[in-house]
Order: sequence, then structure tokens, then C-alpha cells
Amino acid sequence: MKAILCTEWGGPEKLIVGDAPSPSPGPGEVVIDVKAAGVNFADTVVIQGTYQLKPEFPFTPGLEVAGVVAQLGDGVDSVAVGDRVVGIPNIGAFAEQVLVKAAAVVRIPDSMDFETAASFAVAYSTSHMALGYRAGLKAGETLLIFGAAGGVGLTAVELGKIMGANVIACASTQEKLDLCSERGADHVINYTEEDIRERVKEITGGKGADVVYDPVGGEAFDAAMRAINWEGRIVVIGFASGDFNQARTNIVMVKNIAVMGFYWGSYSIHKPSAIGESMSELIQMWKEGKLSPHISHGMPLDRAGEALAMMMGRKSTGKMVLTVGD
Ligand SMILES: NC(=O)c1ccc[n+]([C@@H]2O[C@H](COP(=O)([O-])OP(=O)(O)OC[C@H]3O[C@@H](n4cnc5c(N)ncnc54)[C@H](OP(=O)(O)O)[C@@H]3O)[C@@H](O)[C@H]2O)c1
Repeated sequence: MKAILCTEWGGPEKLIVGDAPSPSPGPGEVVIDVKAAGVNFADTVVIQGTYQLKPEFPFTPGLEVAGVVAQLGDGVDSVAVGDRVVGIPNIGAFAEQVLVKAAAVVRIPDSMDFETAASFAVAYSTSHMALGYRAGLKAGETLLIFGAAGGVGLTAVELGKIMGANVIACASTQEKLDLCSERGADHVINYTEEDIRERVKEITGGKGADVVYDPVGGEAFDAAMRAINWEGRIVVIGFASGDFNQARTNIVMVKNIAVMGFYWGSYSIHKPSAIGESMSELIQMWKEGKLSPHISHGMPLDRAGEALAMMMGRKSTGKMVLTVGD
């Protein structure tokens, strides 16, 4: 089968369009015919060898897939051959077929197309669980979002508004800020030009943000420590800037704030029921027309390297999706 192959650590230019053996399912596993694969920031990190997951060469990146169940391993009765599903294989989705654990496969509504499905699970569920379950965002609170036009950031804008928050979206270009406003952001900040703390204080009458959603890290995180309200919560989602931070514990204490992490992938190991509940709620919201998934680029599988390079160059908004077949 056709697959994108990573044969050495490096940038997207090192990826090869090649052949890989078709997978066959072991007990508890499912083979999916891939129709679309979501592009995630983690894919850009795994190919460079700097992610927690370090597969053996050659491997196929791609952690999020939508397609049709092709084969079932022993003991799988949660889905059937022919079902339309999304799956989270962790690696392998940038190919014509992928192997996924049955527990990480969920049926999708007939009305949801494969591109939308491939863009949906990681981005929406990360923001839904991080804001609600983890940070306890309440209606009327102010939510500050970094990288707000990106894959997870834009879903945080939409879900923050649905949860009743006053949303402040930060992004690096006017085009990205306009998209955040279209998705409901109440205020926008170009954080490459404006001072985050000053603007947030101005918007909140001097109080600061109650919850900060941070998929960027580095300077943005440091700004969050200065722009947070008393009893605020900073949720660390990721490090798109490439920088990690050390939280100033004197500020943590004096402001009575919490700095907390949220990692969606670890819930599939430690608390899969929480992901299941979140996905059911999100799919229901989508059916009711409350969510508008945004895909800035749909490309054929062969252009996976180009898609990852665009993501690393901050050129995408919302999600990018790779398609297989017609
Ligand atoms: N914790 C979890 O469970 C979880 C789940 C999904 C993703 N993540 C993490 O969240 C982060 C964002 O993921 P994503 O899929 O939303 O990625 P994305 O679509 O590429 O969005 C990332 C955003 O970060 C901003 N950014 C700032 N500095 C950047 C840099 N040097 N390079 C690239 N982008 C930069 C960009 O917005 P501006 O140009 O506007 O600054 C970009 O839109 C990643 O670190 C990812 O691993 C975590």
C-alpha cells in the first residue's frame, strides 16, 4: 500500500512517498481503509525525533484518521466491517490503511464527511476537556487563548463561547485574528505587536484573565503569568513555540493561581471514559449545528511533507487534512 515513510529524523523534506506492507489486525485491533487523515502539530515533532514517542524506522506518521473499517481482530465487537469511523492510531495514519486499537475507534454520523471527521476528534476534544473538565471554566469568566487560529486554539474559541466565557483570542496576523472574530472571539490581540498583559488588563478592567489556554508556551506563557486574575487557572496544552517554561512559584502563591497540564493522549490510557463522554457530547453539538470545524487546507496524501512544512511555518489555520483516494 502507499504510505508516507520517515526513514531518518529530520524535517518534512526528509519524508518519502513509498510502499509499506498492508497491516493485519491482532486481537483487539482494527484495520481502517483511510479516507482522510488529520494533520497535527505532534506529527511535525515525531518525525524530528523530539516527541515522547520514538518509533523504529521506517515508520509512517499520522495520529488521527477517518475511514471505513476493513478488518477486525479477534474479540472486536464494538465496530463492524464497513462502519464509517474515526480512529486515533498514534502513528501510521498517513497511508492507505492503518492499524488502530478498537478502543480508540468511534463510529461517526452518516452526515459527517471524512475530511470533517479527520479534523474533529483531537482538536475539539482537547479544548472541551481542558476547558471544562480540567480548568472548570464558568460562564461569565474571561478566557485568554494563545495560538487561537490554530488547530486546537480555534476550537477553544468556539467552545469557550458556547461555555459562556468572554473570549480574548491571540494570534500573529490580521487574517488569523479575523477568523477568531468570525468564530465568536469577543476581543483579539496581535501578540506579535501588542503587549498581552496591558491589553488583557484594559479589556478586563484591571482584573486579568480567569483561564488561559496555552498551546504555544515560551514568551506567551510568561505573559500569561502576568495577565492572570487572582484564583486564575493556566492550562498548559503544548509548546508550538518550541520553548518550555519554569513557572514562577511566587506568582503562583501570591495570586492563588493554578498552573495545570492537559494531555489528551494520556486520557486514552488512564481514563478513556472521559474521552468517550467528551466525544459523544461534541458529536451531538456538531449534529445540532453548534460547531463549525475549519479546515484551511485539504491535500492529497502525497503532499504530507508540504502540509507539515506549512504547519511549522505558521501558514495554516484551523486544521489541515490529507485525503486518500477520490
Ligand atoms: N495537550 C494535548 O492534549 C494536545 C492536543 C493537541 C495539540 N497539542 C499541542 O498544541 C500545540 C498546537 O497544536 P495545533 O495542532 O493546534 O497546531 P497548529 O494548528 O500549528 O497551531 C499552533 C499555533 O501556534 C502558534 N505558534 C506560535 N509560535 C509558533 C511556532 N514557532 N511554530 C508554529 N506555530 C506557532 C501559531 O499561531 P500564531 O501564528 O497565531 O502565533 C499556530 O497557529 C502543539 O504544541 C501540539 O502538540 C496538545
